[in-house]
Formats: sequence, C-alpha cells, structure tokens
Amino acid sequence: MSRSAHPAGPRHADVLPEGHYSAPPADLNSLDPKVWSETVTRDADGVLTVGGIDVKRLAEEYGTPAYVLDEDDFRSRARAWRTAFGDNADVFYAGKAFLSRAVVRWLNEEGLNLDVCSGGELATALSAGMPAERIAFHGNNKSVAEIRRAVEAGVGRIVLDSFQEIVRVAHIARELGTRQRVQIRITVGVEAHTHEFIATAHEDQKFGIPLAGGQAAEAVRRALQLDGLEVIGIHSHIGSQIFDMSGFEVAAHRVVGLLKDIRDEHGVELPEIDLGGGLGIAYTSDDDPREPHEIAKALTEIVTRECEVAKLRTPRISVEPGRAIVGPTAFTLYEVGTVKPLDGLRTYVSVDGGMSDNIRTALYDAEYSVSLVSRSSDAEPMLTRVVGKHCESGDIVVKDAFLPGDLAPGDLIAVPATGAYCRSMASNYNHVLRPPVVAVKDGQARVIVRRETEEDLLRLDVG
Ligand code: LLP
Repeated sequence: MSRSAHPAGPRHADVLPEGHYSAPPADLNSLDPKVWSETVTRDADGVLTVGGIDVKRLAEEYGTPAYVLDEDDFRSRARAWRTAFGDNADVFYAGKAFLSRAVVRWLNEEGLNLDVCSGGELATALSAGMPAERIAFHGNNKSVAEIRRAVEAGVGRIVLDSFQEIVRVAHIARELGTRQRVQIRITVGVEAHTHEFIATAHEDQKFGIPLAGGQAAEAVRRALQLDGLEVIGIHSHIGSQIFDMSGFEVAAHRVVGLLKDIRDEHGVELPEIDLGGGLGIAYTSDDDPREPHEIAKALTEIVTRECEVAKLRTPRISVEPGRAIVGPTAFTLYEVGTVKPLDGLRTYVSVDGGMSDNIRTALYDAEYSVSLVSRSSDAEPMLTRVVGKHCESGDIVVKDAFLPGDLAPGDLIAVPATGAYCRSMASNYNHVLRPPVVAVKDGQARVIVRRETEEDLLRLDVG
C-alpha cells in the first residue's frame, strides 16, 4: 500500500506523516515487475529496454522528457479485463486516464468499450472509429452541444448526473426523433480510496444524484416518464486507487436495493448496473493491486448474491477501469540536469520536465518510484527528491526516492506507472512544452501523440 494516502484527493493526505519514507531497496538496479510494464528489462549493459528498444535510443530519437508506452502491455491488460468479465459484462475503458486515437483503435480491436466525459474525448473516440454504440458519455455538466452531438452520433448510453440533465437529454433526444439509452448516476454514500472506505449517509461532492432522501428514486421516477429516454440502468462510481473490495460491496448492496424499489414501484427491472472504475495499481513496490479476474469474480459474486436476496434477475454488469489498464503501461523518461546535495537533508535531482507532465504528486501527494535507467550502478543509495524545472517549489515528481550516489547530469531516469492521468492532466505551465507519447512494440517505436512545439503555443496566442 502507498504510504501517502489517497492519490486522487487531498482529503486523506494526512494518514502518514510528512517525510515518511522506507529504507532503500536491497538492489537499486532491480526493476520491480509490479510497477514496470511487462516488456521492461535491463540489457547486458544495464540499460533499460522496453518493447525491445533501449531508452538511450528512445531519448536520442524522441528527446526527453517522453512518456514511453508499452503497447503489448496495454493490450494484454485490456484483454485481461475483457476476458475476466466475459460475455455477460461490459468493460468501458475510462478515457480520462489517457486517450489518443491509437489507444481508441487498440481498445476497439481488443473488444473494449469506451467511457468519455467531454466533447473532446467523444471527438477523439469517433474520429478513431470507435462505434458510437460502444461509447458511454459521462460528465456532471455536459453542454447542450455535447449532448446533441452524442445523441446524434448514437452513443450507447449517456450517464445522467442531475435532475436538469434528465430533462435536457430527454428534450434533445425527442427533438432529434430518437430515444436515448441512459443510466442514472447515483451516489450511494460510499467513498473508497486506496485501502479504506467510508460509508456515510451523504456524500458532499458534485457527482451523481444522492440515494439519500429518496432523490435517486425520484430521478428514476421522472426519467421513466419521459419519451426521449430509455432507462437502462443505475451507475455508481465510488472513488479512485481502491484495493479493498468492501466499498464496492456496500455500493452494490445499495444499488441493488434501489433496483428492487424500482421494481416494486414501477414493475420494471432495470437490466444494467455500472459499478464505475477506481481499481488501484502499484505506484511503488508497497502497493498490492488485485488481478482483473479476482476483481471480476468478487464484483460478480457480490451483485449476484445481492440480487438473489432481493429476488431480482441479475443485471448485466459494467465497469470502467482507466488507471488499472493504462497506468502501469507507461513510464516517463527524463534526463537529469542538476544534482544538488543539501547537507543533512537530501539531494535534489532536477529533471527536464516536472509538474507540467505529472501534476499528481503536487495535487494528490501521490507516490511514485524512480530508477536510473541509462546504466546500472553499484554506488551506495542516496536519498533524493526528484523535482522538475518549473518556477515553483512544489514542483516535485517523486518526493522521496533512493537513487545511486553517483547519479550525474546527463543520466536518464524513469518514473514508472505514469500511464494514467499524467499526459491527460499535463499543462503548459511556464510555457513548458508537453512531452510526446511514444508507443513501443516488437523493437519498433512510434509517436502516437507528438511533442508540443513553440509553434503550437504561439498558434493559440493570437496577439
Ligand atoms: N468512471 C467514472 C465515472 C470516473 O469518474 C472515473 C474517474 C473512472 C471511471 C476511472 O477511474 P480509474 O479506474 O481510472 O481510477 N485524476 C485523478 C483521478 C480522478 C478520477 C476521476 N474519475 C488521478 O490522477 O488519480
């Protein structure tokens, strides 16, 4: 488990004290398969290779910083989720974690569906040929134009997030002479993060319609009356970076309870439930994520059991993993620029990127690991903080990390498990250019998202 708390929200950031770090690993050259993608290894010279290509070559050809994405690893994780849930369930990859047209094509080929949460993500999905019926459209404040576009395209489902949106989508669908398949997102009063969850009566946050106070039941009542909508199910998403299944258990119990109330009141058994995403990955060797087949088994058993008790037909389940598919598939490759020992404290290692390519450390107090990858080293471990090049002292990439004591400018270091929410949350802070995403496979590398250029920046600045 990560020592710092919840990587997707500052609320739990006080579980362990500031500056808490473990002892150096026995071998700084070893690459823990839990945090690195499946084709990563060190060659005979100690250089890290991925997809059959060494990082020195990648740095020469594509520059640094760069996100390096292991296509085989992405595909096999996508496939593992798909296979684990089988034909009676649907896996929607959450595009917010990382979306590009190449990724959309891989998902399509591997038989996954796609969850999008903005017009931009929808446009990317459609432009890369994802069939609209396999797209779910999310968001707590979709614009009228976005809804119209989604309905016109024929998306498989829109996940309704508020009372206003129920009416808005129904109205647009009617205008367009169609009936839109929708799910209603509810908040079940469960908040789960990492290895803890809290079940409360009410959730103080912006998503969904609370189950509490009969609001969710009222939303279903209204949606069922509208011609423009076909209500296919209930949606619940309980948090991020979750290892403990008990939060899902409580959520499923409450969602099935609502399905039962709907059946009793309206005589309708809604055919689907979506349990959202949020499944955790290993950012450091301390994290112990579950395998997709264990998660599928646990979720299916929970829903089946709850439905048996409620005497309901088991609905079709869907899930929306983002991080668990793309997170472990990529690392960020940086070049060391300066190494600054601060007596009695630690050594600051500055890299050529920073909070613009990985905001998660600054935003969520997230933990990462880091390794020297352009060579191996037998030097003693030194305690470092890996920082970026931004004009901000909170510009930290890895807060506490052990790196070899002979680390020097020009060395390449890499931060694993940056596939999710790093490129997708990247910024141009300080007018730093966003790095490319380079996909590697079978000894070949190709840029799937190119590096930003100064021309890109200046094109938006119309003077
Ligand atoms: N489905 C819904 C409705 C969601 O809101 C999310 C994430 C997911 C699926 C995918 O969750 P995942 O499996 O990737 O954890 N930017 C943050 C996380 C915010 C996630 C928001 N919703 C981070 O960097 O950790």
